[in-house]
Amino acid sequence: MTAVTKDQILDALARVIDPETGKSVTAGNAIQGLTLRDGNVGFAIEVPPARGPRAEPLRKACEQAVSALPGVFSVTAVLTAHNEPPGGARPAPPQPARAQQASPAPHARPGHLRPRHTPVAPMGIPGVNAIIAVASGKGGVGKSTVAVNLALGLSRLGLRTGLLDADIYGPSVPRLLDIREKPQTDGRKLIPIAKLGIKAMSIGFLVTEDQAMIWRGPMVQSALTQMMNDVVWAPLDVLVIDMPPGTGDAQLTIAQRVPLKGAVIVSTPQDIALIDARKGITMFNRTQIPVLGVVENMSVFVCENCGHESHIFGHGGARATAEKLGVPFLGEVPLMPKIRETSDAGTPIVDYNPTGPEAHAFLAIAEQVAKAIAAPARAAPKIVIE
Ligand SMILES: Nc1ncnc2c1ncn2[C@@H]1O[C@H](COP(=O)(O)OP(=O)(O)O)[C@@H](O)[C@H]1O
Ligand SMILES: [Mg+2]
Repeated sequence: MTAVTKDQILDALARVIDPETGKSVTAGNAIQGLTLRDGNVGFAIEVPPARGPRAEPLRKACEQAVSALPGVFSVTAVLTAHNEPPGGARPAPPQPARAQQASPAPHARPGHLRPRHTPVAPMGIPGVNAIIAVASGKGGVGKSTVAVNLALGLSRLGLRTGLLDADIYGPSVPRLLDIREKPQTDGRKLIPIAKLGIKAMSIGFLVTEDQAMIWRGPMVQSALTQMMNDVVWAPLDVLVIDMPPGTGDAQLTIAQRVPLKGAVIVSTPQDIALIDARKGITMFNRTQIPVLGVVENMSVFVCENCGHESHIFGHGGARATAEKLGVPFLGEVPLMPKIRETSDAGTPIVDYNPTGPEAHAFLAIAEQVAKAIAAPARAAPKIVIE
């Protein structure tokens, strides 16, 4: 089969008429960020912010038009609303975080204090029993390492497990699980890639890391929504989401779109000391996500030659902080070169050496998480991640 070209894709899109303007969707630079790799197509459709979800049929029509081309393997079309008129007369476009506030409940009165979280139960992913997020205040603390090993650990405990790499800006699941192939579709949805006993999906399967980096807020939101809803996840006992660092759009999107069972917070000993138990407002209580517990990563350096333990960043702070915050302490993972090496090689430590001491730490955490998943939901404690 001959490879599809960008021109062919643009030609197909030119034939899609936007019902609201009566013009081709390619008129006025609405199609942006077209990417094409091995038959996997991605692009954004820019629509006026006010149009919002009404543009969904247009998005679908664009996807269908491109899907119909020979040589096209998958299509990810996302809606974006971005254009700000010069002079800034109009309010800012709806960023996900603000979008909720911008649509107040009918009874909301000006000045009336109402919860920032609109209490509308988000829809779950059919056939997925529990969804948990692995989150951290900043990058580089080992969130992806914990997410993948936790997922492998939950799978070893007999749970049917999925791993969604929601770190749109820095997807790492392709590397961690050494996945180079593209996901297939079942005609309607993407089929996650099965590896080491779990099902995985990552934006990194579809675009390169460089491409992912340039995605903007609204596109991220749309892409994440699709990775949750347009992927054949079911049947799963648990879906582990590797969140992007921080408390921005992507986190809120996930929080708003799916009922999370809870969040596992990954922190290093020195960062955990910065969590301020007295401050209240964060993504986690703003969105009512229960915190399943805190994992202290890189807690202690164990010399591989002599077994000597160095407490580089101090030690035990995470447990103490967790207690102060009233959230469970899920365990600590030592800083061990083997953990990094096995991750880089695409066979994370829980799979590489499940009976070793490094894997033991993750498996102990997985056991606690499995128990928390089985338990009824708890109220969200106050916690600040910075
Ligand atoms: N406990 C650990 N021991 C050794 N290396 C680790 C450990 N945790 C994470 N790393 C390494 O640190 C780097 C950052 O980890 P990563 O999981 O990608 O962080 P994040 O997802 O928070 O950005 C990676 O190279 C990873 O292999
Ligand atoms: Mg990561």
